[in-house]
Amino acid sequence: MTPKSMKAVGVVPAQRELRLIAHPEPALTAPHELKIRTVEVGICGTDREICTFAYGQGPAGSDYLILGHECLGEVTEVGAAVQDLKPGDLVVPSVRRPCADRGCVPCREGRQDFCCTWKFTERGINQVHGFMTESFVEEERYLTPVPRDLRDVAVMAEPLTIAEKGLAQAWQVQQRVPGWEHHSRDGKGRGFGRNAVVLGAGPIGLLGAMKLVIEGFRVFIYSRSAKPNFKADIAAQIGAEYISNLEVSVDELAQRTGNIDLIYEAVGEGHLTFDVMRVLGINGVYILTGIPAEKAPVPVFADNIMRHITLKNQAIIGTVNASPMDFADAIRDLGEFKRRWPAAVGALITGRHKIDAYRELLVGKAAGIKNVIEFA
Ligand code: BGC
Ligand code: ZN
Repeated sequence: MTPKSMKAVGVVPAQRELRLIAHPEPALTAPHELKIRTVEVGICGTDREICTFAYGQGPAGSDYLILGHECLGEVTEVGAAVQDLKPGDLVVPSVRRPCADRGCVPCREGRQDFCCTWKFTERGINQVHGFMTESFVEEERYLTPVPRDLRDVAVMAEPLTIAEKGLAQAWQVQQRVPGWEHHSRDGKGRGFGRNAVVLGAGPIGLLGAMKLVIEGFRVFIYSRSAKPNFKADIAAQIGAEYISNLEVSVDELAQRTGNIDLIYEAVGEGHLTFDVMRVLGINGVYILTGIPAEKAPVPVFADNIMRHITLKNQAIIGTVNASPMDFADAIRDLGEFKRRWPAAVGALITGRHKIDAYRELLVGKAAGIKNVIEFA
């Protein structure tokens, strides 16, 4: 019997084409697999970049790649060896899949976010189809369960894992600094008394800011648009201070904040990222999340930056998502965001669209914060 075909959004790199694809509906092929009905899929800069054909490659033997790596789905079928999930459960899949090298310890231990051969694959990005289609099959170990009451926000779990992993690493690194972590049991969070600057107020920046606020940091969001604007409104709702870089220079920013203990970069732009590196504080940690496309060299104050990194014991950390633990933490924290700021976290999803809007969303002018395509 030939399988039913489903609607999918994909690219055909050889033709430099983005289009709706009739993709055969998948079926379970192994006992640890589940079949999942897609609920919704978020669109991000990576998807838009794949649509410029800078990268993005389909599975071997397929001339197309189905897009989509930020997904919420509902289990419809489970294989015989599936342990904890059942039909009706909501789940979020991760993105990276391990390389095949037996010597790659991170991949062999389920930590393909630290793959050391760089031969990992990624759903919706690199050699494995993504989730921008009606249903998909996935192994249980790549799925994180989602409580029902987070159905409206859980599509943001994947981008939030970038902050989860970034912060988890920062806490590990900062153990080098005696007293960096706030140890009191007063419930103010272990970042209490520390200043954090978030660069950028897109989805990665705002989700990162929310995470930093619940960890107790005093958070400044340094972004482009002048106030008032709706991103600054969200910042105000979560108790972060929004500062426009059109109005306040990098040096003025540093004067206003006091020692900058942590910077969370979410602008994906090299010049501002390195310019702000100049003002990272004593014993500070800089978390980078951006994946800018390659461009011409830009001048930076390299000697000044280097001197500070050395003399002030600074650390720079990259973060690419993410471990199963980071996914579980993202789901838990989305629950906390919703309890604290139901309006603000909901406002991050600025558009829910039908699949037919795919072209506008992927190659049209980017608008709003997080746009999603609804499938069910
Ligand atoms: C995804 C990551 C991925 C990266 C680069 C991001 O949008 O969240 O999982 O590794 O793109 O491909
Ligand atoms: Zn993404």
